[in-house]
Amino acid sequence: EKGTYPHFMLKEIDEQPFVIRNIIQKYQNEDGTVHLDDDIRSAMKSSDRIYVIAAGTSYHAGLVGKQLIEKIAQRPVEVHIASEFLYNMPLLSENPLFIFISQSGETADLRGVLVDVKKKGYRALTITNVPGSTLSREADFTLHTYGGPEIAVASTKAYTAQMAVFTLLAVDTAKASGIELDFDPIKELGIVANAMEILCDQKDRFEQIARDYLSVTRNCFFIGRAADYFVCLEGALKLKEISYIQAEGFAGGELKHGTIALIEDGTPVIAIATQEHVNLSIRGNVKEVAARGANPCIISMEGLESEGDAFVLPKVHELLTSLVTVIPLQLISYYAALHRGCDVDKPRNLAKSVTVE
Ligand code: M6R
Repeated sequence: EKGTYPHFMLKEIDEQPFVIRNIIQKYQNEDGTVHLDDDIRSAMKSSDRIYVIAAGTSYHAGLVGKQLIEKIAQRPVEVHIASEFLYNMPLLSENPLFIFISQSGETADLRGVLVDVKKKGYRALTITNVPGSTLSREADFTLHTYGGPEIAVASTKAYTAQMAVFTLLAVDTAKASGIELDFDPIKELGIVANAMEILCDQKDRFEQIARDYLSVTRNCFFIGRAADYFVCLEGALKLKEISYIQAEGFAGGELKHGTIALIEDGTPVIAIATQEHVNLSIRGNVKEVAARGANPCIISMEGLESEGDAFVLPKVHELLTSLVTVIPLQLISYYAALHRGCDVDKPRNLAKSVTVE
């Protein structure tokens, strides 16, 4: 039930801080450390390469998941779009572990890959919001994202929950491999949940940004570098899916290789700047598009802000920024769709779970 909310999507956006706290609670030991299932631990530890398979928003969570596992647990990860993987399989490593990420656990493109890799004798872990689902039943192991039912077609809380679970998976694998962490993951995820709450309390600001930048446009670009690039892909998917504005996410450095030709007077460009090591470069990209007439909207993070930024996010750990940056992008998409009179929870041509190939 959506209670007093006008749409499930808005309710589900607001639930994100609670979902993160719930995940912490479910995967935390009494002494405050993280410990996942022993079988998952040893599967992660013994594999020489992890293949993440997903679609849509879950694929975008996988891109962040790769970064988390590579940076925290120091294991190589490849992320693949499920519908491509089956027909264009890369050369696999000797001892792969497959991770299927799916909110619904029913996506047919993923199931096709799961059946195929199981036939080949490989091990599979499903990260899902629905533990009894097909992908969960047919994989060797399951990690539950504890997001509660997600009704809106546009995925919101499932995405942040998937990244939170990836964080814990990475931390647990690191621990099992004797890697010392220089941060407390439980504490940092708690800071993320608080930051999410602060953002959810500032809906008016994001509604205004949607009005200022998106009320009349036909298209919109999202640009970012490093982790911010991945969240740009998700921001663009959210916006096009529910508002029907043509939106694309690009790596800031890639613009000059073609995309910048699309910039016209007034084209909205939402730039994300939460990564210290690329802050100057992304701001350089903003100058480039602004010089060609774009209307840039910079979303930055405390400590990296500059005058004129449209919004400054509360500071969180640099590996966890995507969990926070996505909230304004979800809200901006929601209001852009609302202002255009779109059916926010049930966008045209789409189903919540895609059970055909
Ligand atoms: O249930 P899944 O996570 O497997 O679904 C994958 C995609 O169909 C899904 O994320 C889709 O892209 C969303 N509607 C995006 O908001």
